Amino acid sequence: MRALTCTAFAPPEALTLQDRPDPLPGPGEVTLEVRAASVNYPDALMVQGLYQVRPPLPFTPGAEAAGVITALGEGVRGLQVGERVAAFTGTGAFATHLTAAAGAVFPLPEHLNFEVAATLPLAYGTAMHALLDRGKVQPGETLLVLGAAGGVGLAAVMIGKALGARVIAAAGSEERLALARAHGADETVNYETEDLKAALKALTGRAGVDAVLDPVGGRWAEDAFRSLGWGGRYLVVGFAGGEIPRLPLNLPLLKGAGVVGVFWGEYARRNPAGNAAHLAQLAEWIAAGTVRPLVSARYPLAEAPRALRDLLERRVTGKVVVVP
Ligand SMILES: NC(=O)c1ccc[n+]([C@@H]2O[C@H](COP(=O)([O-])OP(=O)(O)OC[C@H]3O[C@@H](n4cnc5c(N)ncnc54)[C@H](OP(=O)(O)O)[C@@H]3O)[C@@H](O)[C@H]2O)c1
Repeated sequence: MRALTCTAFAPPEALTLQDRPDPLPGPGEVTLEVRAASVNYPDALMVQGLYQVRPPLPFTPGAEAAGVITALGEGVRGLQVGERVAAFTGTGAFATHLTAAAGAVFPLPEHLNFEVAATLPLAYGTAMHALLDRGKVQPGETLLVLGAAGGVGLAAVMIGKALGARVIAAAGSEERLALARAHGADETVNYETEDLKAALKALTGRAGVDAVLDPVGGRWAEDAFRSLGWGGRYLVVGFAGGEIPRLPLNLPLLKGAGVVGVFWGEYARRNPAGNAAHLAQLAEWIAAGTVRPLVSARYPLAEAPRALRDLLERRVTGKVVVVP
């Protein structure tokens, strides 16, 4: 097999493509031939040693993939060689083959192609968990999504609409806002050129926003929090902007509002049935055309470092995949 390898925590350009022996699944594992691997922000942090998880070196980055099962380990039931599946493994996916615990593998319905399927567990799973379990977003509520043209952000725009919310999308360029509108956003704010707080006040008046989904952090967080109405929920998803914001604690008090942490990986580990139910709901929405996942670019395996660089430099919209 061929695998992109991280031998030292360093910028993505230091990753090298290496030949390795073909993997064999251990007990309870399956091996798949990777047809598409999703590119996620945590991959870009992990190879630099900047993520909360620092795998022992050397390792292959790539958290999730979709492909075809080539071998089953001892004791695996309910999966078959030749079956189309997606898998979430945390690492290892930027390779021609991936070995995963059978419990981390999801058989694919016919209507999901490999590229879309590869992008669902992490970004869409996070948006589902955030909006349903943590934000409890209700039909008719107003949802603000920051970084709304990114991986988790665009997923949240579409899922917010599927839940019946009014969705305000905020992003850093007109082109990115147009994309959010094309995927269902009702209104948009360019936080690079507009005053976010004033724009949200104009859009929501005294009622304010009911929930904010924030994968960006940084300089917009306090203004976004101040736009919440009574009983609002601020969903802390990530810090792609680079800075972990601080918040004066009188703000949640005055609004009866909550700062709510979202940690999909830990949720999926503790509640695999809930996570599987979210993925099943997503697959239904995709089949019905309610949610239309965007895979905006494909990179060959050798060019995965360029995909990570594009992500770090805000050039990616929706999701991108590595196709070995
Ligand atoms: N909590 C969880 O369970 C969980 C799960 C998945 C991901 N995450 C985190 O969520 C964040 C987003 O992940 P993602 O995969 O959706 O990433 P992404 O596709 O790169 O989206 C991030 C968005 O942030 C915006 N942004 C603003 N300033 C930025 C900067 N300096 N550098 C990069 N992007 C910037 C970009 O939009 P504009 O250019 O339009 O501003 C971009 O679309 C990451 O921090 C990731 O680690 C958390």
